[in-house]
Parts: sequence; structure tokens; C-alpha cells
Amino acid sequence: MLGLYDSGLGGLTVLAALRTAGIDQDIVYFADQAHVPYGDKSDGELHGFLTENLALLAGQRVDAVVTACNTSCAVAQHYGWPATPFPVLDLILTAGGSFAETRHRRIAVIATAATVRSGAYTRAIRAAAPYAHVHEIAAPRLVPVVEDGEADTSTGRDAVAEVVAQIPSDVDAIVYGCTHYPLLDRWFAAALDPRIERIDPAAAQAAAARALVAELGLPPGTSTTTYYTNGDAHSFERAVRRWTGDTTGRVAALVAR
Ligand code: DGL
Repeated sequence: MLGLYDSGLGGLTVLAALRTAGIDQDIVYFADQAHVPYGDKSDGELHGFLTENLALLAGQRVDAVVTACNTSCAVAQHYGWPATPFPVLDLILTAGGSFAETRHRRIAVIATAATVRSGAYTRAIRAAAPYAHVHEIAAPRLVPVVEDGEADTSTGRDAVAEVVAQIPSDVDAIVYGCTHYPLLDRWFAAALDPRIERIDPAAAQAAAARALVAELGLPPGTSTTTYYTNGDAHSFERAVRRWTGDTTGRVAALVAR
């Protein structure tokens, strides 16, 4: 069984990528919606949330955690990963590693303020592609837009337009450095020059998760996902149905911490 966590809905994009990659493991997904957005929190707060999220998943007896939150990975790279009895796949390291064979030279990473502050994406991409020029852009409005159910509205479109206006015109790729942003992809696609590739690290994370499942020799699962939130379970359930198409997974509320 695999564990995934995020501050809210963003990690559903990683979950979807895992299922698209054919991973049939049962999955426990935890949305820390009591603390969303993560991007404007201090490193100390974020490390505390990370520690609690991993402890919660440990309590579910997961075999591995596939991180679906860039911001917590950025903080863990500075302050250390809490000790766990299972392996944890770092989304930013996976994303960076996927640039080893890249033809891209000028890359814009769009991420939360906390992730940009850490510089973790620039380090991870340049470790794999030393000649790449990486430009990081903080986009603090986008997570609240998604969490408030505005991703499909003109509010979502306008929030994306503000970010696109900050992207240098000579980049050849952008990276969704926050798992919420692929839920706004239609607006990025419409606003960006079509020659700019839009990269979602979820695909690389799913490939890494597949390899980890094989390495750990985990027996086949039943492709069942159980969702937990410490926010509002009803609106979270609606969002799960909207963004994953999963009509069977069970959604349960946890008491907000
Ligand atoms: N979706 C998360 C990430 O990838 C956190 C976003 C937030 O809550 O600010 O960074």
C-alpha cells in the first residue's frame, strides 16, 4: 500500500499519474486542508506539517510514501526528512532527475513562494542538466484559486495570466513545480506560446513509484484509494470526483489538527 499526501487537491494530479502508469497498489491519500495553502507558511511550520503527515501515513501502515507536495520536499531538503520505517520518494529530486536527457536549456519553474525560497528546483534540475538556465517564479494566488473551486472560472484564467506575464519570453519549457498547477493547465496552454513545453513532474514521479513498487516486491493491490482530509469532507469528496473521476474511493474526515 502506498501513501500520498498534499496540502489539499494538488496531489490528486500525482495520484492520477500513478493510476495512468498502471499502478494497482491500494493508496491512502491525505489532504492537509486544515493548513492549506502551504506556500505562505514558514519553514518551521511546514516541517511540522510534514512530520505529522508522515506519522499519519505510518499509522496507516503504508509500505512507501510517494510525495505529492513539492513545498514539503523543498523544506525537507533543508531541514531533513523525518525518520520513517518506509522509503519516501522526493518529488523535487524525481523532477530534477528527469532533466538528465533534456533538450531544454531555458526552463521556468512555477512554484509556491516557499519552494522558490528554497531554490530546491534549481539545484535539482542543474544537478542533472548543469547547462540549463533555471528561472523560478512564485505564484501564490494559484493554490487558493484551485482550493476555492475556481480553477475552471475566469478567476482561474486571470490568475494564470498574471503568472504567464512573468515568464521570460525565451524559455523553452515551464515546469509545474506545485502539484496544484496542472489543474489549471488549460489556461496555461491557452496563454503560452505553443512552442513552450509544459512539464508536469507527476509523470516522472509515477515512473519512479512504479520502479519502487517493483523494487520492494509489493504484491498486487486492488487499485482502491482511500482519501482523508482534515478539512471539509463533503467539498473534498466533490473535488475528488471532479479531478480524478474516481467514483468509488472512500472519503473520510479527520478531526482538524
Ligand atoms: N501542492 C503543493 C505543492 O506541490 C502545496 C501547495 C500549497 O499548499 O501552497 O507544493
